[in-house]
Amino acid sequence: MFTDNVTTDLAALVVLAAGQGTRMRSTTPKVLHTVLGLPLIDHVLAAASPANPDLTLVVVGHQREQVEAHLVAKFDQVQVVVQDKQNGTGHAVSVALESLSTTATGSVLVLAGDTPLLTPEDIAQLINSNNGASAAILTAHLADPTGYGRIVRSNSGDVEKIVEHRDASDAELSITEVNSGVYCFDLALLRSALTQLGTSNSQGELYLTDVIEILRRDGHPVHAHVTNEENILGVNDRKQLAQVGQILRYRILDKWMLAGVTIQDPQSTWIESTVCLDEDVTLLPNVRLIGETSVQSGAIIGPDCSLENTRVLENATVTKSTTNGAIIGEGAKVGPYTYLRPGTVLGTRAKAGGFVEMKNAQLGDGAKVPHLSYVGDAVIGEGSNIGAATIFVNYDGVDKHQTIVGKHVRIGSDTMLVAPVTVGDGAYTAAGSVITDDVPAGAIGVGRARQRNILNWVLRKRPGSDSANAAVAD
Ligand code: UD1
Ligand code: CA
Repeated sequence: MFTDNVTTDLAALVVLAAGQGTRMRSTTPKVLHTVLGLPLIDHVLAAASPANPDLTLVVVGHQREQVEAHLVAKFDQVQVVVQDKQNGTGHAVSVALESLSTTATGSVLVLAGDTPLLTPEDIAQLINSNNGASAAILTAHLADPTGYGRIVRSNSGDVEKIVEHRDASDAELSITEVNSGVYCFDLALLRSALTQLGTSNSQGELYLTDVIEILRRDGHPVHAHVTNEENILGVNDRKQLAQVGQILRYRILDKWMLAGVTIQDPQSTWIESTVCLDEDVTLLPNVRLIGETSVQSGAIIGPDCSLENTRVLENATVTKSTTNGAIIGEGAKVGPYTYLRPGTVLGTRAKAGGFVEMKNAQLGDGAKVPHLSYVGDAVIGEGSNIGAATIFVNYDGVDKHQTIVGKHVRIGSDTMLVAPVTVGDGAYTAAGSVITDDVPAGAIGVGRARQRNILNWVLRKRPGSDSANAAVAD
């Protein structure tokens, strides 16, 4: 976290995201691939946001329309900069700095858009290390440094330069300290160093990494902040996407367990970055909490649940169910095998029991739909009970219609409520009814054919059958 002695004025944050991301083999730009519910670039922006830059510039190029549309829709403080031709990371930063006034001073933080495990602490410490230096680099020691730029230090341990893997000598290749691609620069010194970059390297590109050697040559100190191996992992292909996803998943699980959430089986639990949980929530095995889901204290979720954009209030229980866009009231019960779709609102101690599907439907306080029902486009009053296998017939093949069920109503089993229709307070419907007309308060609606029995039908029509023999013996 930030300490009070940081006085650095962060003139700009520059996020590099113009590269092609070829190894993802995807029509989706790399930085828009998601881990734990958020695109890679959102994780990076979230890690940098506590650093509070005056300006955030994201450099886009390949598939820039998609990246730009995402950024514009979600981050109003972000300014998009287009790098038409990808001439290297140094070129990308030069293009970005054209958006800054030539008189601006302070520091510039540079990040890549594909390193979602960076933490705000890494960034704060990096900015801190740049105090009194011309640049600070975030580095880590990797067991396998293949592909990364190596940090070359002098005998006295000072950072001298960064050498790209492809351009490194055998001695340099044996260095395990690598460049994370995250830097904090003094803006004025960075500007002047960028004008001195050359392209005499194996890729013929303008490398941002060469800025370090230029600064050192001109006598400016460069610092390095070493962090752990995990934090700097970048995503270049789908294997790495899954790998960073697993690390992030356990970070999120650890955070919630330390915040007072019981997670019985972390291995089968997925909680996206956007989810919010209170103390004393219990998650049983095989639970996925997705999107803007929140769960209040005392609630028990699982086993086998997937909750998306769902609010679960205090002490509710949700068992073996799938929900999306639902609000589950205090002490309410859901499941097993239940599907709550957008617009479902369950009141306090309401119940959507086994094999129930609900959509755009409000269930009042203490009201129950205990078994095997479809409830669509409905308002159900407090204390009402919807009998097993009731269907809210909301769709006439063209339009959807609403059903209103009053308070303390008793809907008989296997009722069809053909919308639009209203059942008044305290009314009943007879089991097996097809209700097409409103039922007044306190009435019973009966909408079914009267039963008749044809005596001895089986003996005449099925003589000698097991049924007939059973009937005769009776
Ligand atoms: C870069 C560093 C390397 C470091 C590694 C860490 C350079 C020359 N090398 O290598 O020292 O170890 O990151 O992951 O900087 N980009 C642009 N425009 C361009 C080129 C790249 O926006 O013209 C963006 C890419 O989209 C990516 C980032 O810059 O987000 C890094 O570029 P990439 O080509 O992946 O560099 P690396 O080879 O990984
Ligand atoms: Ca039926």
